Amino acid sequence: MTDLHPADPPTGALRDRPAESLRDRPTGALRDHIAAELTRARDRSVRLTEAVDDDDLVRQHSPIMSPLVWDLAHVGNQEELWLVRDVGGREPVRQDIDDLYDAFKHPRRDRPALPLLGPVEARRYVSTVRDKVLDLLDGVRFDGSRLVADGFAFGMIAQHEQQHDETMLATHQLRAGPPVLSAPPPPASAAPVRGEVLVPAGPFTMGTSTDPWALDNERPGHRVELPAYAIDAAPVTNAEYLAFVADGGYADPRWWSERGWQHRSSAGLTAPMHWRPDGAGWGRTSFGRFAPLVPDEPVVHVGFHEAEAYAAWAGRRLPTEAEWEKAARWDPASGRSRRYPWGDEDPTPEHANLGQRHLAPAPVGAYPAGASPLGVHQLIGDVWEWTSSPFLGYPGFAAFPYREYSEVFFGPDHRVLRGGSFGTDPVACRGTFRNWDLPIRRQIFSGFRCARDARPDEVA
Ligand SMILES: [Fe+2]
Repeated sequence: MTDLHPADPPTGALRDRPAESLRDRPTGALRDHIAAELTRARDRSVRLTEAVDDDDLVRQHSPIMSPLVWDLAHVGNQEELWLVRDVGGREPVRQDIDDLYDAFKHPRRDRPALPLLGPVEARRYVSTVRDKVLDLLDGVRFDGSRLVADGFAFGMIAQHEQQHDETMLATHQLRAGPPVLSAPPPPASAAPVRGEVLVPAGPFTMGTSTDPWALDNERPGHRVELPAYAIDAAPVTNAEYLAFVADGGYADPRWWSERGWQHRSSAGLTAPMHWRPDGAGWGRTSFGRFAPLVPDEPVVHVGFHEAEAYAAWAGRRLPTEAEWEKAARWDPASGRSRRYPWGDEDPTPEHANLGQRHLAPAPVGAYPAGASPLGVHQLIGDVWEWTSSPFLGYPGFAAFPYREYSEVFFGPDHRVLRGGSFGTDPVACRGTFRNWDLPIRRQIFSGFRCARDARPDEVA
């Protein structure tokens, strides 16, 4: 389906937008912006770790998750490695703990047995590191190496902390016991959104070469030619997914890939994670609270195999990553790829359900101001959307600043998810942002939408 060309020199309408927003900022304004992003991330880490007592902080709530106290100190350790030592050239704060917080050396299931910093030590450590970073930020120049140009390393660390905050939020969702997090409900639907949107054939610019804080796997911007296709105007809802469950979808191997069926059988899957029967219907547990399913809320906590099976049952398929991104970024009027479906401006609460303002996806139709020019809704926020694409480097990919950020995950084992969830912070979410995970994973805030090839009568 996807016709990838090596990165052509950007020309005319295919050029993606130079992200002037950071580049044109005077140095002082960029410093203020960085300090604000780092502070916002830390405030969230503090809220997520102060919500539970010390026993809960050091406990492992699931073998596939780290103890919360590991995430906290790991965030500080990465900040120390990249900003205090690399960018600042300063003496290490705690070189002795580098190994403990190296995610590649210790799988999550082994982390509780490590001699980790306790809650008091971990909090002291991250705050010592942060003080040094804010101090060195005062004198840093943003025109030196590529690592500091446009404040990239600081942006990478702010995104990293927010990504771990989302992981910590997923740990909260797995935690047993009374609720400790609360938030107002997401906005109601302004108008129903149904059906699908036809995206015409043609090229668009996928990825970016200009967004200053884009990560290596989003680069470079390159031309992709796609045939016409149809994509759902909104993510698949609980009501729609329930029809698949009620139709015996989990008991019928016809809808599942071979690997998907094997996993469904060995794991005994019968419904999305956190669902359970509730009288005549179904309910779901969300951050310790059980409630009936909200019919028009996007389904969440499904794995890739489940998404793929639903799509087959519905006579559809999952979109490729390129199809998702064209639906999200391509502006038919200008031919240009924008940062977000609604344009280039940063997300506001009117555009998308991001940043843990709410603890659930919003009903379909809740964000009309966030729709793309073609009328595709809620691509950003609410739920990460599984695509059919394996996680691979774009043509011309170059690992930066280290192979372990993305490159070591390239290959058929991981599938790409797009768009961010209600637990994703705006700093770590844009039309080009790529997430990836194993197809069996569903503790993340993952849902999906369907697509299909255009019929000949639709493209004539
Ligand atoms: Fe990390």
